[in-house]
Amino acid sequence: MKILHVTAECYPVAKVGGLGDVAGALPKYQKNLGHEAMLIMPMYKTPFLDKHQWDVVHKDKARLGDYQFNFTVIREKQQSLGFDLYLLDINGLLDRPKVYGYSDDPQRFIAFQTAAATWLQSWKSPPDIVHCHDYHTGLLPFFFKYGYGFRKLENVPTVLTVHNAEYQGWLDWSHSQWLPAFDEWKSGLLEWNKTINPLASAIKNAWAVTTVSPSYLTELRYQSNGLEALFEYEKGKCSGILNGIDADLWNPETDVLIDNHFNVKTVTAGKFAAKKAVAANFGLNPDKPLFTFIGRLVGEKAADLLPDSLAAFLREQNGKANVIVLGSGEPEIEAGLTGLKGYFPGVYDFYKGYSEKLSHELYAGADFLLMPSRVEPCGLNQMYALRYGTVPMVRSVGGLKDTITDIGDNGNGLRFNQASVGDILMTLNRAMELYQQPKKLEALRKKMMSIDHSWEKTVSQYIDLYQSLISRGQPAVP
Ligand code: ADP
Ligand code: GLC
Repeated sequence: MKILHVTAECYPVAKVGGLGDVAGALPKYQKNLGHEAMLIMPMYKTPFLDKHQWDVVHKDKARLGDYQFNFTVIREKQQSLGFDLYLLDINGLLDRPKVYGYSDDPQRFIAFQTAAATWLQSWKSPPDIVHCHDYHTGLLPFFFKYGYGFRKLENVPTVLTVHNAEYQGWLDWSHSQWLPAFDEWKSGLLEWNKTINPLASAIKNAWAVTTVSPSYLTELRYQSNGLEALFEYEKGKCSGILNGIDADLWNPETDVLIDNHFNVKTVTAGKFAAKKAVAANFGLNPDKPLFTFIGRLVGEKAADLLPDSLAAFLREQNGKANVIVLGSGEPEIEAGLTGLKGYFPGVYDFYKGYSEKLSHELYAGADFLLMPSRVEPCGLNQMYALRYGTVPMVRSVGGLKDTITDIGDNGNGLRFNQASVGDILMTLNRAMELYQQPKKLEALRKKMMSIDHSWEKTVSQYIDLYQSLISRGQPAVP
């Protein structure tokens, strides 16, 4: 099967969060099953670009309203990710250091999708499946079906994976001229709640929709930032497929980003050595338990509860526990976390920013990882934590619920119900108790590390889905 993934992120080319990790791994595992998996993404100005070699495979023109632009598609020569990686260059629009966060993001991603569809239209025979990820690529199923310029793609099966429905790419109808020409009488298939809504459009037009965990799919019908009724209406074409992890990259025995390697047999000594190294860098005492939070500092992750919860916990423990937070996001949360440094020297630190290396060191060296998320479509951090023997402390939501069961139920982590300071504190205290029982902790670590969350386990669910779409053919036109 010829499968093309279209995405805004892909590790190690450009990553903001878990979407990058998934896009960087899933095609590789599909290729391992003998499929021709490929990926196209915008050509940002990232270090990856200069460090690798490229072939130019296509040059063309496309339009964004009145603005005609040239674009180029390049392919990585080395296949260093294990599959064919294509980057799409639009001079002035995409070639910037960051993935998102520019005021013209709507134009950037519309131009990217228009150019990607124009490139696909030039193929002798189109891919068997085009797999779109999140709203940045959500207009493609509509373009294929109703765009005047893309008639060759009309019958290409499309899959949308919803990694995060909080972001939908809303666009006022006054900007509709940015879209390529389409059958105007189908414009309802672009719309939700009186605006152009790329995520809603993808849910309406893709042949199938997946969410990154089964529980998230159920939750979206009750809470999805305005799309509840749409998820309910389209439930027949939706399924939840739990993400996997790249077990080659995320392996405490071989991880190139950590110095102290370990495996399930050497976990206790190995993790202590890893903790010693992190603690030395941050001036902390490795004989105390180390708690960490790694992630985007936003409301979705309940990161706003961290300053109060951590302050209360550290005050209560009075030097008996260490905490390191790694992340960036909303300025108020960053300020709150920075503020704590003055109150808890020697037991607390906050690394404001993004560091892939430090994240690996923390998964390896920390004893506990906190994830109090209000919304968590899947969550990869808890799966990395399991693999590195770090006990996940998670709120019962989305993919966290699907991957972590409480130790009280013979499970693999600590679970709590509310995104509240009270529940977080209660769970931090339970973790402290667990830390006082080294035998129990060691047994738990071994159990966690033996759980297989690699893509190898789940990738076939996507292949089965693709196959069912190909044999079924185009669904009835809505
Ligand atoms: P989301 O995609 O919602 O941010 P996930 O749990 O799926 O959440 O994935 C987050 C990914 O991003 C993980 O690989 C995590 O280690 C990484 N990450 C998040 N914030 C940072 C950071 N500040 N520095 C390094 N890695 C980070
Ligand atoms: C999103 C979600 C996260 C998920 C990731 C990869 O960013 O917030 O829960 O793990 O995508 O699918």
